[in-house]
Amino acid sequence: MTTPFRIAIAGLGTVGSGVVKALAARGDDLSHRAGRALQITAMSARDKTRARGFEITGWRDDPLALADSDADVVVELIGGDEGIARSLVERALSNGKHVVTANKALLAKHGLALAKLAEDKGVSLKFEAAAAGGIPIVKVLREDLIAHGVDAVKGILNGTCNYILTEMEASGRSFADVLQEAQAKGYAEADPTLDVGGGDTAHKLCLLASLAFGTAPDLASVAVEGITHITADDIAFASEFGFRIKLLGVARRIGERIDQKVHPAMVRARGPLANVSGAANGVSVDAGEAGSFFFSGRGAGEAPTASAVIADIVEAAAEGDQPSPVFGRSAASLTRLEPADGKAQVTPWYLRFEVLDVPGVLAAIAGHLSEAGVSIESMIQRGRSPGEPVAIVMITHETAQAAVERALKAISASDKVRTRPCMIPMEA
Ligand SMILES: NC(=O)c1ccc[n+]([C@@H]2O[C@H](COP(=O)([O-])OP(=O)(O)OC[C@H]3O[C@@H](n4cnc5c(N)ncnc54)[C@H](OP(=O)(O)O)[C@@H]3O)[C@@H](O)[C@H]2O)c1
Repeated sequence: MTTPFRIAIAGLGTVGSGVVKALAARGDDLSHRAGRALQITAMSARDKTRARGFEITGWRDDPLALADSDADVVVELIGGDEGIARSLVERALSNGKHVVTANKALLAKHGLALAKLAEDKGVSLKFEAAAAGGIPIVKVLREDLIAHGVDAVKGILNGTCNYILTEMEASGRSFADVLQEAQAKGYAEADPTLDVGGGDTAHKLCLLASLAFGTAPDLASVAVEGITHITADDIAFASEFGFRIKLLGVARRIGERIDQKVHPAMVRARGPLANVSGAANGVSVDAGEAGSFFFSGRGAGEAPTASAVIADIVEAAAEGDQPSPVFGRSAASLTRLEPADGKAQVTPWYLRFEVLDVPGVLAAIAGHLSEAGVSIESMIQRGRSPGEPVAIVMITHETAQAAVERALKAISASDKVRTRPCMIPMEA
């Protein structure tokens, strides 16, 4: 074998620890795969004194020092779209070091500039762990499903949201209740906004869209809606209709435009996405004439994420000074497609109204829907309690989002409507 491939690791938390442990446990096999011995030469994190369950090698107080060390690859596992993570990645690439990262926020925001820098310096920038954790979807989109192009990528990309929705369905409890329990068990962050608000899914989606369509990551164009407004009633009604509610990231190519959005959707209970349960992730890829493909597995956690990071380290070592392009093609050839009018997409909609049970409410709702050109396929009003709030649920025929929104805006203005109406697209 030739000289060892020297690895510097910044961040020794969930993912970083997993990488160190896996390299220790399977280093020999991995070195054979890389064609070079893999050797950790430097590590950094915030707290040197923290017990981590493995031996610290080459500690640096300042993670930026890893970029100036003799490492061949800097593995950035700190996180964040700015600050130390961004500085470290930029400095390591500038110093001609390969970079492996799991940082979707950083790449979603600065992916194009970082890809250009890596290319200029002739080094790798790899990020398999940044989208869907252990599922090797980045490689699939970058290298495998390329012959016939990709029409659409659709995924459950956030384990926290999927865990919450799965638990809400299993237990009939509210979003707030289940979130609190998930936080107590460590499945959700103390500040869950990035997860439940859909932002984390948007980061991952824009990376997958970039790989699938040959575009520069375009986070600003992703329309994002989270799951905080989903009620136990919505989930129960979905189940009654033969559907489940999932938070989806969807990227579609429409001619010379691209539609990217994150939103709760009702998917058929028997379909593959509906059966991605708990903290798992699932991604479906519509690859033109090649057909449709579905991938599922663990999207987060120590071992699955470390698995993806290690695959990147081994690939970077094996490729040496012939790195494969960051997004599957040269940075200069990444295009910018205009955003499509996502609201023009036609689909059936689930609508829920919380209204006062007084005469004329239903007629008023029906009137506004009809004025906006929204026709109703079915309706459920459960129980009657005159003068009290009740839920009315409707399923529309296939309708454009813009028309439904127009109707709901008018309906919301009524003093008989208690809360903002809920609209969720349904799989046709
Ligand atoms: N967790 C997952 O399942 C998962 C899945 C996919 C992608 N990712 C991504 O992987 C990255 C790491 O996530 P994680 O879950 O492993 O995070 P984590 O458990 O919070 O670990 C973060 C590590 O970074 C260190 N750190 C934080 N701020 C620092 C600073 N200013 N200077 C030096 N070190 C600093 C921490 O040091 P101390 O240990 O000393 O506090 C810790 O070791 C993130 O980009 C995340 O989005 C995570």
